Amino acid sequence: MRIGILTGGGDCPGLNAVIRAVVRTSVKEYSSEVVGFLEGWRGPIENMVMPLTMQSTGGLIHRGGTILRTSRTNPFKLDRGPERIAENIVKNRLDALIAVGDIDTCSVANRLHQEHNLNVVCVPKTIDNDINATDFTFGFDTAINIVTEAIDRLHTTAESHNRVLVCEVMGRKAGWIACYGGIAGGADFILVPEKPIKAQEVVQAIKTRHSRGRDYSIVVVAEGARFESPEASNEPSESNGDSPTDNTSIGNQLARLIESETGFETRATILGHIQRGGAPTAFDRVLATRFGVKATQLVHDKKYGRMVALSGSKLHDVAIEEATGSLKTLDMELYNVAEVFFG
Ligand code: F6P
Repeated sequence: MRIGILTGGGDCPGLNAVIRAVVRTSVKEYSSEVVGFLEGWRGPIENMVMPLTMQSTGGLIHRGGTILRTSRTNPFKLDRGPERIAENIVKNRLDALIAVGDIDTCSVANRLHQEHNLNVVCVPKTIDNDINATDFTFGFDTAINIVTEAIDRLHTTAESHNRVLVCEVMGRKAGWIACYGGIAGGADFILVPEKPIKAQEVVQAIKTRHSRGRDYSIVVVAEGARFESPEASNEPSESNGDSPTDNTSIGNQLARLIESETGFETRATILGHIQRGGAPTAFDRVLATRFGVKATQLVHDKKYGRMVALSGSKLHDVAIEEATGSLKTLDMELYNVAEVFFG
């Protein structure tokens, strides 16, 4: 067989481990060939290809990012996008396509399968861990380890200055990174998109903590968390906080509110794309490798329209739409565990 592969959506550590596994499994187990498409769905639309061999993908398992690069291109928003993909799949004599990506990448793959009869298999990827039907996605473990180390570092400087430090992490719509990283880092409050921020609840928790003689606090907030009432943050309600660099980010808003309401010196740190960079953890290298091998097996078994998934310690496959119909938001039982340590 000749198999195409692309990486779409936000990058994360582990993508190269998937590429390496797909190539190695295809060549060694099935004597198949693999063609890489560059920059997400832009690659098959524009026919941007890179032949992939065992030699060119050897030694990739530890490298962050993706050698195929990525984008957030959506072919269904472009003139004849799907049709051009189908034409280029024929032009490259491909039997199937493996799409490695987030919920948007996989949703596109599913539509191409359902509406244009393309042979696709998906591998779920995101640091947000917000894809349904799989317990974890690779990239997540690396991100929470980066967050945990950052919080450990923030603890020492907060304690040295008797300060409240607000750490803003990624997660536009789901609070998995904030909750896991916050628990692991021993945060004194964690704010997630799934639970609107009650300003006075945060303020009171910090005051209570400081009244117990703990003169510093760590507050972790997901970039997608929002105040229950916009006026609570004294920011214009249109502030969207989407860009980690502008001063309307939720982390900055929260820091200003805490300092003004408690009188405690407060600073904000926005981790941003550090959470997406660097080498994958061992867990992510192994999970990504397993996903890549399994996806290659699905292709050779002609099980198209499927996504590889982790359930417990076992891999299985699900219909792509089972994973992409809705976002996997935070399990609030885990948040309840975190609440034990607030304040
Ligand atoms: O989807 C993963 C993610 O890292 C989100 O957590 C974050 O909000 C978003 O991507 C950032 O997107 P971009 O890298 O395109 O700015």
